[in-house]
Amino acid sequence: MATDCQSRLSFLFITTIFFISVVVVVDGVPPSCERIECPSYDVVDKGNGFEIRRYNSTAWMSTPKIENISFVGATRTGFLLLFDYIQGKNEYGAKIEMTAPVITQVSPSDGPFCASSFVVSFYVPKKNQADTPPAEGLHVQRWGVMYAAVRQFGGFVSDDSIGGEAAALYSDLAGSHWASAVDKGRSADPTSDYTVAQYNSPFEFSGRVNEIWMMFDPEDGYSS
Ligand SMILES: *[C@@H]1O[C@H](CO)[C@@H](O)[C@H](O)[C@H]1NC(C)=O
Ligand SMILES: *[C@@H]1O[C@H](CO)[C@@H](O)[C@H](O)[C@H]1NC(C)=O
Repeated sequence: MATDCQSRLSFLFITTIFFISVVVVVDGVPPSCERIECPSYDVVDKGNGFEIRRYNSTAWMSTPKIENISFVGATRTGFLLLFDYIQGKNEYGAKIEMTAPVITQVSPSDGPFCASSFVVSFYVPKKNQADTPPAEGLHVQRWGVMYAAVRQFGGFVSDDSIGGEAAALYSDLAGSHWASAVDKGRSADPTSDYTVAQYNSPFEFSGRVNEIWMMFDPEDGYSS
């Protein structure tokens, strides 16, 4: 059953590579980052349809794995937990400022009914990073230096669109000198096939920015 689901997922992934039509609507830092804190990064390279970023020392408050057949459903479940957390449902009773993006790490799972598993995370503001309020059921992820291949897209993220966006990023990377490093990064971390970053609240209807991130270590096979 698990194998069946996994091969179906990779088949979907491969077939969607051939449907690349979405125009990249934004280029650069998402507008929400002018209003609320976002992790800073350096742009290391720009390619056709993608950008390579380096993030340094970010911290994320993360949910446990959420199994669902729906990315949107799992992200909503995770977001509500994190929203309670920043409203003060943590061991310090501390209110924490809203930040962007909220990220969802997507991975195939061996759960029933071809569910995937999702970890939803909130970017911890710099001033809360040294002493991040703990909370039952949530855990902190601290990333050292992290590279990401990034594709931006607009609108509301839907269950039907993310596979295609991830496939488009993958296909844009093919042939670039980042391709093998990204491949190695994806196979080295089976817990995260790719990550979806969302910068807007559900109540903003225009100017929405989302991104697909594929994380990697540039030491793994960068070839120039
Ligand atoms: C990353 O940030 C840490 C702490 O701010 C700093 O000590 C370190 O030099 C930085 N590393 C890189 C590669 O920028
Ligand atoms: C799974 O997704 C469905 C559909 O959006 C949602 O109603 C449900 O609450 C979600 N369950 C979990 C555990 O995320």
